[in-house]
Amino acid sequence: MKAMINKNTFLLLLITVIISTACFSQEPKDLDEKVEKFLDENRQQWRDLNVPFGDGKIIHDLIVENNYQSALEIGTSTGHSTIWIAWALSKTGGKLITVELNEKRQQQAIANIKKAGLSDFVEFRPGDAHQIVKELKGPFDFVFSDADKDWYVQYFKDVHPKLKRGGRFTAHNVLQNIGGIREFMEFVNKHPEYITTVDKSSSSGIAISFKK
Ligand SMILES: C[S@@+](CC[C@H](N)C(=O)[O-])C[C@H]1O[C@@H](n2cnc3c(N)ncnc32)[C@H](O)[C@@H]1O
Repeated sequence: MKAMINKNTFLLLLITVIISTACFSQEPKDLDEKVEKFLDENRQQWRDLNVPFGDGKIIHDLIVENNYQSALEIGTSTGHSTIWIAWALSKTGGKLITVELNEKRQQQAIANIKKAGLSDFVEFRPGDAHQIVKELKGPFDFVFSDADKDWYVQYFKDVHPKLKRGGRFTAHNVLQNIGGIREFMEFVNKHPEYITTVDKSSSSGIAISFKK
């Protein structure tokens, strides 16, 4: 009798585990398909200063290739780059903190990331990045700066002590003639602890500063 109960209990447990695994877990392959579908379907729909598809892929690949796991994004908007970063982190086992001042855009980003199936990999921080970036503890191994360009140098200075060696600080739109970009490029190019290159494969340009 005792052996029967044990056997039945074991079987019941096994069935419960199998059912809950089937219902609740998202296999990496399923997640990849979901994200790819979302990105493809929305490729032409981004209207809020979002990065182009190709730039999203560049930052995604940087994270995956370097196995980065603790990312910071400055300037979420409606979440196109956020999705690319979070997708990469879903492959490396990492997490992203993303900061946005505009509440409406942030709400849209939260909805977009949910639709893409990536909510588990993103922490949304509403508010002014000028303050928030100073307060964040880090450490980070990947940063994507894409908010107000005239603050890029200050964001860099604030993140620098929290960026791990071997990590990268990336900055968007550095090939564009926007106030603050020239000063930023001069600053990072002169910085003795970084090697900075610019990915020019998109018209926006992405500065990639590697911390030695
Ligand atoms: C170029 S958009 C970001 C696009 C986004 N990375 C993407 O590709 O989907 C810049 C965003 O930064 C936000 N922003 C500007 N200044 C900010 C600040 N001081 N703090 C937080 N967000 C800011 C803007 O509201 C805007 O949504």
